[in-house]
Amino acid sequence: MLHRILEQRLQKAVRALFPDATTANILVRPCPDPKFGDYQTNALMSVAKERKMNPRQLATDVLAKLDVADLCDKVEIAGAGFLNFRVKATAIAQTLEAAARGEHLFFTKTEKPRTVVVDFSSPNVAKPMHVGHIRSTILGDSLARILRTLGHHVVTDNHIGDWGTQFGKLLIGWKHHLDAAMLQADPISEMERLYKLVNAASENDASILEAARQELVKLQGGDEENLRIWREMIELSQHQFNDIYGRLGVKFDHALGESFYNPWLREVVQELREREIARETEGAIGIFSDGSLPPKEDPFLIQRDGEWQANPCLIQKSDGGFNYATTDLATLKYRLETWHPEEIAYVTDGRQQLHFRQIFAVFNRWHPEAKIKLAHVWFGSILGEDGKPFKTRSGETVKLFELLDEAEERAFKVVSEKNPEVSEAERKEIARVVGIGSVKYADLQQNRQSDYVFSWDKMLSLQGNTAPYLQYAYTRVQSIFRKSGEASLAENQKAKIELIAPEEMSLAKHLLNFGLILEAVAEDYRPNFLCSYLYELAGHFARFYENCPVLKAEKAERDSRLALSALTAHVLKQGLELLGIETVEQM
Ligand code: ARG
Repeated sequence: MLHRILEQRLQKAVRALFPDATTANILVRPCPDPKFGDYQTNALMSVAKERKMNPRQLATDVLAKLDVADLCDKVEIAGAGFLNFRVKATAIAQTLEAAARGEHLFFTKTEKPRTVVVDFSSPNVAKPMHVGHIRSTILGDSLARILRTLGHHVVTDNHIGDWGTQFGKLLIGWKHHLDAAMLQADPISEMERLYKLVNAASENDASILEAARQELVKLQGGDEENLRIWREMIELSQHQFNDIYGRLGVKFDHALGESFYNPWLREVVQELREREIARETEGAIGIFSDGSLPPKEDPFLIQRDGEWQANPCLIQKSDGGFNYATTDLATLKYRLETWHPEEIAYVTDGRQQLHFRQIFAVFNRWHPEAKIKLAHVWFGSILGEDGKPFKTRSGETVKLFELLDEAEERAFKVVSEKNPEVSEAERKEIARVVGIGSVKYADLQQNRQSDYVFSWDKMLSLQGNTAPYLQYAYTRVQSIFRKSGEASLAENQKAKIELIAPEEMSLAKHLLNFGLILEAVAEDYRPNFLCSYLYELAGHFARFYENCPVLKAEKAERDSRLALSALTAHVLKQGLELLGIETVEQM
């Protein structure tokens, strides 16, 4: 890629001046303002600082050693010591020609592949998957796809909530109130009903709570009957989860639920106690602040009534039961020993921030030697159009299955209005791709840490930053090829690309940035960067297509423009695929 080549030349020039310099951090990035150039580096200023040199002088010295005449029209020193590169049209065209020949699609696989575990989706057994889990599923899947495409070794793991206190109540419900017919018709709803029933009853009746506790102890102690029922509940839930994953096109390498770690929980607590990381507190076991952080950043402190008070991470309850945190610590250890990751990304709701800050801090005290990046990739809530948490009209949490059905139905209407002549089967398929794509894109396009308002009309609109807009843009490019009436792809693989019109040039430069955007997404875990990039790409293409005739142009120009169009289509398709969104050829 062009910026990469510039980077290498620049690093070489710096090393020519200072043979001992470490140059890996010398990067070249697109210029924020095209007025000043195409690419820019600010890295020389840090080199100057390190060497206590005048930055502009250093930039002048580096420039004297820099050989980029084949790629750049000019290189200028600007501001406090920036270098701005103005790239030659021929150099851009050559990069595009290589892409047209299939040598790359504007990104390169990383030279330093990392093993990255992505922990995402992670719904809870016996409960319907709700819209909160959709964000985790969609975000996590897209991040995994992007990391993998960049050449990282990705391990996806669905940390299903299949162990925990809810099973006490569920077991009581199952044993005393089960409606077999309803269980058959809609198992999750029936289990949800049982849970709610027992939960409500236990609020006024302590004996029910105690009975639930005993069922849980029996389950955890290996009671045959309880284990059998528990397994059945998991299996029934798993079926529903799998249906949803099938519809979303999401796959996992592993689905090691919380129960998988049960055999190690006791050991984890014991080890943390022996190492004096954890201690007893009011009959329970917890981990407290070690005072190594300022109170504001310390996850084991909380401000109450103007004072900093202990906020321990509990790993064993006074009744001997274990906590969510205990399981996460055991999970971390298992992942480390099994997959040796350099990085683990947890994709969950923002309300779990404190939990993960504590887990990461405990882990650093427990395994200070482990060199691992632990990241909590958290996200905000989905709101209804009234600005309150997204609910159905009757006030229930919206179920994922119904949401996806509605998306497809609404998309079907849009598609049918636009294309009444297309066969129903085809319209159904387009509606599936557009409907599911819309829901995914509406989610991914947001800054994940903001709450966003769920709006059918917005997400299904053919205008604006939406999935249908991009999917439609893709079909428009494809229609050029249908009209061109030739085996055009093979033709323009060999095409000579000439960038003359300003719209051709802007489109070309935007295509070049695809790889940089993918790297930025992987770095910050933010697929919304890719959404904005694709939206802008569609805009560049629309302006190009409006101002530069393709099929009516003379042979050489036509081939060049067809090649540009084909590259746009490739990037749109691959970009959407990396968001987990399908495309159709006609809409
Ligand atoms: N099951 C949890 C929930 O629904 C999410 C689990 C996230 N992953 C983890 N390792 N804690 O909130």
